[in-house]
Amino acid sequence: MTILDEGALSQLRAAAEAAAANAYAPYSHFYVGAALLFDDGSIVTGCNVENVSYGLTSCAERNALFRAVSERGPSAKIVAIAVANRNGAASPPCGACRQVMSEFVTPDAVITFPGERGPQTLPFAEIFPFSFSFEPQGEAR
Ligand code: THU
Repeated sequence: MTILDEGALSQLRAAAEAAAANAYAPYSHFYVGAALLFDDGSIVTGCNVENVSYGLTSCAERNALFRAVSERGPSAKIVAIAVANRNGAASPPCGACRQVMSEFVTPDAVITFPGERGPQTLPFAEIFPFSFSFEPQGEAR
């Protein structure tokens, strides 16, 4: 796992928490924020955005990732991701967000999220082993 000092991690968690203030969650009332730390020290954030049709809801983590790719392209190096919520609940990133993370983060990226007993910090490889992947073929069958 990339070595990050506790100061950098708590700053990243604070950015995720601030992002959660913008969450649009009138249905679940669960307010989530995510913050991505890049190798140049910069941070990109996202929050969850719900929809009355429920299924169109988009998680904070994916919104942060899609925003980052939109603004910086897919190759910018993410070294850590923090997740926070304003509900005081444990909230590891959902499985769908982990699969999306697997497209843009390396196995050694640091993921920190609210656990049952305070912040939990793990390398991405540990929270999402066996991601789906395949080698795209040249032509459709
Ligand atoms: N949510 C996230 O933003 N990230 C997750 O990893 C899991 C869930 C959001 C989706 C929905 O708006 C609310 O939390 C309740 O599921």
